[in-house]
Amino acid sequence: MKTKVLMVCLGNICRSPLAEGILQSKVHPDTVFVDSAGTAGYHIGEPPDKRSIAVAKKYGVDISGQKSRKFTVSDFDNFDVIYAMDKSNYANIIGLSKNKEQAAKVCLLLSEVDDFEKEVPDPYYGGINGFEHVYRLIDTACDIITEKLKMV
Ligand code: 4NP
Repeated sequence: MKTKVLMVCLGNICRSPLAEGILQSKVHPDTVFVDSAGTAGYHIGEPPDKRSIAVAKKYGVDISGQKSRKFTVSDFDNFDVIYAMDKSNYANIIGLSKNKEQAAKVCLLLSEVDDFEKEVPDPYYGGINGFEHVYRLIDTACDIITEKLKMV
């Protein structure tokens, strides 16, 4: 059975596109489907931020074909796990959940990493170094998720 994972941030142009691309690059597409979305609709239909595309490319991950979309309540039914990049994203998604089963699918991405800071910071208003930092945080979490998915 295919495990379906959704990565969520605010705009779906900086962090969650990286998370989608990084996790998909580590798993087999026949066993794991990864998508991403934003809790806000500011950038619907747009490709990822140029800085996210550049940092991903540097590490051999192509995210340039992605398009931003907004998180919808149907995502609770369509995905097995929903990873929020920060606590604000987490609260926004939980706020849309209709029952405990839906809420139980949502967790912070960095909760997978024991000794890490718990949020992937929003890099939108900063420089390229922020995107590098975000890439490394997400990459570490995705290594752990990949190992977990092998045991499903
Ligand atoms: P993201 O970053 O949530 O990682 O995609 C942001 C992108 C756009 C905005 C904020 C954060 N914005 O305000 O437009």
